[in-house]
Amino acid sequence: MAMNPNKIVVLSGAGVSADSGINTFRAADGLWESHRVEDVASPEGFAANHELVLRFYNERRRQIQQAKPNAAHMAIASLESHFEVVVITQNIDDLHERGGSSNVLHVHGEITKARSVYDDVTVFNIGYEDINLGDTCELGGQLRPHIVWFGEAVEHIDTALDHISDAGKVLVVGTSLNVFPVAGLVRYAHPNAEKVINALDLEAPPANYEYLQGKAAKVVPSLVQRWIAQ
Ligand code: APR
Repeated sequence: MAMNPNKIVVLSGAGVSADSGINTFRAADGLWESHRVEDVASPEGFAANHELVLRFYNERRRQIQQAKPNAAHMAIASLESHFEVVVITQNIDDLHERGGSSNVLHVHGEITKARSVYDDVTVFNIGYEDINLGDTCELGGQLRPHIVWFGEAVEHIDTALDHISDAGKVLVVGTSLNVFPVAGLVRYAHPNAEKVINALDLEAPPANYEYLQGKAAKVVPSLVQRWIAQ
């Protein structure tokens, strides 16, 4: 596959939104907002307790509405005036879009969207509205967040693979690379691409990636300056 030197792929995770006050998934206590991820981000957890899960995401949605994109989101968006940019994000928040990015693939779904338990194709834009028990589609199916839970199929993975394989520059930012298949994408970057990864505490950054340790809100703007000045 030929490499496109003018194309940048950004693969982001929760760490890019950490500087906007949104908690990451695997903090010290291993809990997400004091819940086990399996209890609130799995079909089993939803089946066991619709209300707990709907309330959990209603809280996340309100928190995201209050949050603001940070310098990392803005810097990533500013790349678009110099390069063809595709953002592949594991995040369910809309901070990349609100920071100005116009080409964002959400591989784990989106907090601003809902779907019916009867039909995982029809997706409704709900913005920051709550989803409550009894909110149903016209077939009477309970609405749920359009978010990829553990064990469910990720979105857009083939498209993501195509994009990362011919990008001239790859920035992996704010992800522990714990969750597959998305984490596997990093290996498909073009061998000659410039590959950079930013995180706080990666034990083993992927081979052939330049590791920039530090907060994304600080590290990403200076990397973007470097790339634009090249
Ligand atoms: N700046 C840069 N990186 C940061 C910052 C920060 N301010 N804060 C944390 N990080 C890094 C951490 O070093 C860690 O590597 O962000 C990463 C966060 O990792 P996770 O919490 O595992 O988040 P993520 O990789 O996005 O999780 C992937 O797991 O729970 C599922 O579906 C959920 O999309 C999520 C997926």
